[in-house]
Amino acid sequence: MMKERKTKNNARKKQPNPSAVPYETVPATQRTLNALEVMRHETLQGGGTELIEEQHRRGKLSARERIDLLLDEGSFEEFDLLKTGRGGAFGGEKTYPGDGVVTGHGTVDGREVFMFSQDFTVRGGSLGEAHSQKISKVMDHAVRVGAPIIGLNDSGGARIQEGVDALASYGDIFKRNALASGIIPQISCIMGPCAGGAVYSPALTDFVFMVEDTSYMYVTGPNVVETITHTAISHEDLGGAKVHAEKSGIAHFVLPNDIMCLREVRRLINYLPSNNKQRTPILDLSDPVGRTDPALDYLVPENPNQSYDMKVCINSILDGAEFLEVQPYYAKNIICGFGRMGGQTIGIVANQPAVLAGVLDNSASTKAARFVRFCDAFNIPIICLVDVPGFMPGPEQEQGGIIRNGAKLLYAFIEATVPRITVIVRKAYGGAYVVMNSKHIGSDISYAWPTAEIAVMGPKGAAEVIFRKEIQASSDPAKTIALRTEEYRKTYVNPFLSAQRGYIDDVIFPRDTRHRIIRSLQFLEAKKRERPERMHGNVPL
Ligand code: HXC
Repeated sequence: MMKERKTKNNARKKQPNPSAVPYETVPATQRTLNALEVMRHETLQGGGTELIEEQHRRGKLSARERIDLLLDEGSFEEFDLLKTGRGGAFGGEKTYPGDGVVTGHGTVDGREVFMFSQDFTVRGGSLGEAHSQKISKVMDHAVRVGAPIIGLNDSGGARIQEGVDALASYGDIFKRNALASGIIPQISCIMGPCAGGAVYSPALTDFVFMVEDTSYMYVTGPNVVETITHTAISHEDLGGAKVHAEKSGIAHFVLPNDIMCLREVRRLINYLPSNNKQRTPILDLSDPVGRTDPALDYLVPENPNQSYDMKVCINSILDGAEFLEVQPYYAKNIICGFGRMGGQTIGIVANQPAVLAGVLDNSASTKAARFVRFCDAFNIPIICLVDVPGFMPGPEQEQGGIIRNGAKLLYAFIEATVPRITVIVRKAYGGAYVVMNSKHIGSDISYAWPTAEIAVMGPKGAAEVIFRKEIQASSDPAKTIALRTEEYRKTYVNPFLSAQRGYIDDVIFPRDTRHRIIRSLQFLEAKKRERPERMHGNVPL
């Protein structure tokens, strides 16, 4: 895994030790330069080669090796290499130049980013005053120039020896995270055991990457948990990548190792603008705008209760079938992610009929709401593909707050001023129809496939309500229900009533979906995004 790369950093390490040259033969200026070289050389070792080797044994890269992989080769410029802490709240503690974090800026495919990389070999990457000031400095630069900030986190949290100074230092970072939100993209990679404050800063950022088997996130580690609850729990079960990818939903991306993780961060950056004032980068994948896909005409099964994979539709309409899915293991009944259409980045929000019939539940609602808000903040048009039977009924969902969580998604769509396009592929029932970026809550363009079913509720449920008396009086209730259900289906369950009202802009041939969306995106580029001034809305958090 630890493939040696020739970089500026390890090139420096190979310099001969200048102090080996006899003192009296070296001119004064040269001596100063040599001393600087020695100082820098020593600092580049972090906590020392033994601890770096320990990182490698654990399957982790060192802080500097990670930077080499994240940034374009040779582009890294470092700040505060020689900054040290004060030696604990009471002084007297050993100090380390660099104070356990490497900070600076460089480029990703030629675009500037700011970053910090915590060094676990220095006091477990724990955060003290100087460490925090270094991070704050690059965050401030990132906001000032409008470039993304990427944090490579490998930290035991607040540095215990620095007491309240360490807590105050976390406050400084949290404040910056919140104030930079929606202004520059903020990305966190969890690349080791991160505890305490080391998880709250990532939680405030836009995207969290985790590495399988070597990264953990918890507010308190397993030892403290055992002391308090008298229950032993492993790092993995408490806060491993699987837990956060599938259950808590904190991890947006999970990769098998450091190298793949950093490569994926670069891929994500390529979809995003550098700040909220810029448009997303255009990348021409040479996929014709007018490309049609006749297979889509037959994607939806004739039996309305049969599922299919919405990702077939997503891959078909995107440029080069390239899709970067966000939170792929969490709330799989809704799909969120980035792709390109006509070269431009778009965000996909799509129900997945292959999982829980594509129903909206608590997790799906919050997952999609946060994604929609990110897209809106960063000028990324939203394409919504709908096949939703409704909200998930039942006490578990109600007690879990489906009213509040569903309202989050509703709020997020309504608030969004980026171009918003909806394609109703099949089911669009009840409140879920309205929530999924319907015309009524502000979609710019709504298309429907001829297979769309747009109605207040499913045919059988509807027939049982409106023909209840007739069914009760019937000698064969099952037959009456079947007849009335079919009648309801024919009359109401189609896209044409909505098209007659103008709630649907057109009923389109599925094969033309890509072309129709891109043409809409083209004219919507000029969309004015205005809202009356206010402090901020009150999202139902
Ligand atoms: C100072 C720390 C430290 C910390 C680790 N170290 N965490 N030093 N402050 N928070 C030091 C260790 O003493 C050790 O130093 C070195 O880092 C490596 O740590 P190990 O324990 O040997 O490593 P490992 O076994 O891999 O365990 C890593 C760990 C564990 C899981 C992170 O160290 C741990 O549980 N640390 C405490 C985590 C924690 O509870 N943090 C919360 C802090 S409170 P030596 O010299 O022995 O090599 C907080 C509140 C902020 O963050 C609140 C803001 C809202």
